[in-house]
Amino acid sequence: VGTIPTYEECAGYADMMGHPVRAISLDRNFNVDLDRLADASRGSGLIFFCNPNNPVGTYVGARATRDFLSRVNRISPETAILVDEAYFDYVTHPDHATHIPQAIEDPRIIVARTFSKAFGLAGLRIGYAVGHPDAIRKMNEWESTGGTSSLNVLAMHAATAAINQDPSFIVNERARNTAARDFTIKWFADRGMKSTETHTNFGFVNIGSSIAKFREACAAKGVRVARNFPPFENSHCRISFSTMEDMQKAVQVFGEVLGKAEATSAA
Ligand SMILES: Cc1ncc(COP(=O)(O)O)c(C=O)c1O
Repeated sequence: VGTIPTYEECAGYADMMGHPVRAISLDRNFNVDLDRLADASRGSGLIFFCNPNNPVGTYVGARATRDFLSRVNRISPETAILVDEAYFDYVTHPDHATHIPQAIEDPRIIVARTFSKAFGLAGLRIGYAVGHPDAIRKMNEWESTGGTSSLNVLAMHAATAAINQDPSFIVNERARNTAARDFTIKWFADRGMKSTETHTNFGFVNIGSSIAKFREACAAKGVRVARNFPPFENSHCRISFSTMEDMQKAVQVFGEVLGKAEATSAA
């Protein structure tokens, strides 16, 4: 069970393995509908809980997530919950915390992390999961090559170096992303185009027209935006945040393509 939209890999693998997948719509603000998701968990094998959620960027606060995890454990004790914290390092929500402590305590909860986002190691294909020993043992049954032998040594060294850096690295990366995020979202908002409340390195912006056409026109001017995310392919575009300098150039292209180079508001 997961939301629609969300990061599709998990449902994709379930589907490939012949397990039925159930997708629960987000609420009107693109937040996870916790009540409906908890209800849908009854009797299911696994809930995929992507927080913040790709491609919309919204984040469920730490307390609400802890309550949700306990609720699912109560109403559907056999259900595992995979909490995907890929974008956790970008979160600026006042109530944010990792759910690693819950995962260590409870074999039904697993936290997944990746080095592909704030650490910038996407090409190296490395991430990790944190869980109770029983959960890890169960996952190992599916790991045909056994432990780290499926990883390459360069990726392991890079990830070790990344995680051992001074914590100021992530603090600075979050600050850089927050500035680029706020600048870009304000640019769209000033022109009447609203983004979701994102806590990631991308916005999900309502440009109110075909994303395929917008994407093609932007690409022709050297700026790439993300693919379609049904059912929002005629309204919302996922736009990643690069450096401030890049975003200043990108919004010029967006302005030309959308015919909205000048702000419509007085601000
Ligand atoms: C929510 C989420 N989880 C996990 C990943 C996977 O990261 P990787 O396979 O690069 O480690 C991504 C990448 O886009 C993601 O958006």
